[in-house]
Amino acid sequence: MSGISDSFQRPISYLRVSVTDRCNLRCVYCMPAGGVPLAPRSEILSYEEIATVVRVAAGMGVSKVRISGGEPLVREGLAGLVRMISQIAGVDDVALTTNGVLLKEQASELAKAGLRRVNVSLDTLKRERFKEITGYDRLSDVLEGIEEAQKADLRPIKVNMVVMRGVNDDELVDFALLSREGWNVRFIELMPLVNGGGEHREFVPASEIRARISSLGELLACAPPLGNGPASYYQLPGASGTVGFIAPVSEHFCFKCNRLRLSADGKLLPCLLADEEVDLRPVLRGDASAGEIRNLILEAVASKPQGHRVMQGVVPRKRWMTQVGG
Ligand code: GTP
Ligand code: 5AD
Ligand code: SF4
Repeated sequence: MSGISDSFQRPISYLRVSVTDRCNLRCVYCMPAGGVPLAPRSEILSYEEIATVVRVAAGMGVSKVRISGGEPLVREGLAGLVRMISQIAGVDDVALTTNGVLLKEQASELAKAGLRRVNVSLDTLKRERFKEITGYDRLSDVLEGIEEAQKADLRPIKVNMVVMRGVNDDELVDFALLSREGWNVRFIELMPLVNGGGEHREFVPASEIRARISSLGELLACAPPLGNGPASYYQLPGASGTVGFIAPVSEHFCFKCNRLRLSADGKLLPCLLADEEVDLRPVLRGDASAGEIRNLILEAVASKPQGHRVMQGVVPRKRWMTQVGG
């Protein structure tokens, strides 16, 4: 199987699948305070429809699948989808991005269904602050969820912290120290989207984050833990875990972009930070042949932009981050 590449010779091997636009938290940077209007259930793809898309994509060279949301664990029966996807020939990495609130209850079942690993979003280790950022008092659930995921061997587990100046940037050192306890911690630059809620909060460039945690010792570039995303990884002296940086704003990683996104309502999104979409739903709900789905996937791949143009003021306006899944 030769696989597909876009118009800029980037091989496309990674599909991010959003299974729901619903979420059990209200993170300030991800959606508006009152939440987003939710798509009617009839517009949300069934697990069978999602598996059909993954099957066709796998036949085109996609081997890495990440399940995201909204919050994927709020959708019932997710283990059933994981089971279907993990059995598709050609798919060798099925991972999940979650806020961790419901992980404690579901980690073991998901692992048995074939989930390989999880990334958990966690922006603070302080209970009160967690409530301020997310709207809910659920920090202990997330920490217990991470423990349970470890027990279920959903590794490597990565913890994603979106860094916001004056909100949580006083915890950079605390998070980095967790890498000495074996955690893989990743600092993410806040993406300043009109629709991402970032306009009232300031991002901190990765170079500054790095400088601030280097008070703990020299950060040495290291081999990445298993993964397919844009992070770069380092280790502190004596740490068994890693410190990663995801810098969509200050460093341009679009040149190595390898991914497509499938939204919960059945659109293929060529780029996280652009409004273009290719609608798969009518074909999926009709008498879709694999060939028709394949053609739409090719259309989405062909329309992948060379990179985002956020710094030129071009930002997505159709969807909030919660409706794309990061
Ligand atoms: P690994 O396979 O473990 O490397 O996962 P990942 O980093 O691809 O997935 P995850 O869902 O943990 O992504 C973390 C965050 O990185 C996302 O929530 C986004 O904020 C950011 N990110 C991931 N992919 C892209 C991308 O293609 N473009 C941009 N601008 N940001 C991205
Ligand atoms: N900037 C950077 N990352 C974001 N996420 C959500 N909104 C933003 C934003 N504006 C990340 C969350 C989570 C993932 C699903 O998306 O931290 O890790
Ligand atoms: Fe790919 Fe768009 Fe993300 Fe750049 S911003 S890495 S082009 S999805």
